[in-house]
Amino acid sequence: MSYDGVYSEKVMDHFMNPRNVGEIEDASGVGTVGNAKCGDIMRIYLDIDDNGVIQDCKFKTFGCGAAVATSSMATEMVKGKTVQEALQVTNKAVMEALDGLPQVKIHCSLLAEEAIHAALWDYAEKNGITIEGLKKPKHDIND
Ligand code: FES
Repeated sequence: MSYDGVYSEKVMDHFMNPRNVGEIEDASGVGTVGNAKCGDIMRIYLDIDDNGVIQDCKFKTFGCGAAVATSSMATEMVKGKTVQEALQVTNKAVMEALDGLPQVKIHCSLLAEEAIHAALWDYAEKNGITIEGLKKPKHDIND
């Protein structure tokens, strides 16, 4: 894996053709987080069915190219997963799926992970359930 400052082809592909951009009306969970380092913002929408399976996931961002690419990949990765499985989609897993990110851009990949967690938190709160292993997101700016 290369972290030497050049973007992988997969990063460029997801940046140029981001998947799942948009919003979901009446989403099961919505998470909005800000990146403490650069001030960029990410919002993730989750559509979760009665069995706790993520049927759809969309994102919107005021973020850089790396944030767009990681969110695009992250939304692809959580679709079809249970909420429990979605917790395993860490920023590290997303970066690996993208063949790496330059060192200075690693913090950008945290936006997607944190926004997914914030959306899952919102879903859990709305439904009065606890998702094991999920902590209240640090940079949640929903409220
Ligand atoms: Fe802000 Fe990348 S520089 S998310």
